[in-house]
Amino acid sequence: MQIIRDQDALNEALGALREGGATIAFVPTMGALHAGHMALVAEARRRADHVVASIFVNPTQFGADEDLAVYPRREATDAAMLEQEGCEILWMPDVATMYPDGPEATVRAAAIGDTLEGASRPGHFDGVATVVARLFEQVRPDLALFGEKDYQQLAVIRQMVRDLGLEVEIVAVPTQRDVDGLALSSRNAYLSEEERRDARILPRALGEAAQAIEGGAPVSEALERARTRLAEAGFDPIDYVELRDAETLQPLEALDRPARLLAAAKLGRTRLIDNLPVAPAHQ
Ligand code: PAJ
Repeated sequence: MQIIRDQDALNEALGALREGGATIAFVPTMGALHAGHMALVAEARRRADHVVASIFVNPTQFGADEDLAVYPRREATDAAMLEQEGCEILWMPDVATMYPDGPEATVRAAAIGDTLEGASRPGHFDGVATVVARLFEQVRPDLALFGEKDYQQLAVIRQMVRDLGLEVEIVAVPTQRDVDGLALSSRNAYLSEEERRDARILPRALGEAAQAIEGGAPVSEALERARTRLAEAGFDPIDYVELRDAETLQPLEALDRPARLLAAAKLGRTRLIDNLPVAPAHQ
């Protein structure tokens, strides 16, 4: 696997991979890789001739009071994991390569990014959309893979690709979980042993709420019960626990179409997010 840090070298390496019309799948990440990221790389390998991954801890998607300075950085381990999984190029631009002037011109995320995470983290999805557009332009992949773990991010990127007419196919990969159900996340490394034990309540509370709603329970009651479960386990604040239209992420009062249950809450200093599908009964 080649580790590349400047655009000219990247162009040359990509040119060699593309010879004979071979296809390239791209997995953008912020590093501190785990089995969730590896599932994206494995799916990338199945769907294209070659796999390119990137690691760039993107400053513009972190709020002023967030964890940019302490975000885990593990370049050597990350590179070894990617190589093992069959990735051929690791693109690791620095901030000056990514944003030569700032960034000055940016991408404004679609309205679908204003709610939920966007409401709790103003500007977050503009930062994500800008960096992903920039990465797509640098790598020019045939397809790019994103995890359902960040369900709203996936929706924002799909909308950006549609609205800007970008020629890249977006592929979603289901959330990979630890044995106790907690969604794998680079931020799980911040949890103390005790917090890590309590963290499993998040997927459990969501799972119970999803089941209750699918079984016909009133939505508001099921959501309130999930919030209470989280509060009792020590989550504070609970930013949101919401049932939304699976496609538009608009609020949903009754389960009359495919839905998504989404939550974000803090455990100690660590902010965790998760989401689950909720299917309407067959009519
Ligand atoms: P990061 O948090 O490193 O995640 C990179 C990709 O891995 C995202 O598509 C994310 O949804 C996926 N992922 C993370 N945990 C996962 C899990 N448990 N199961 C399945 N997929 C998982 O998301 C970002 O980085 C950044 O916002 C980025 C898109 C790279 C732009 O900076």
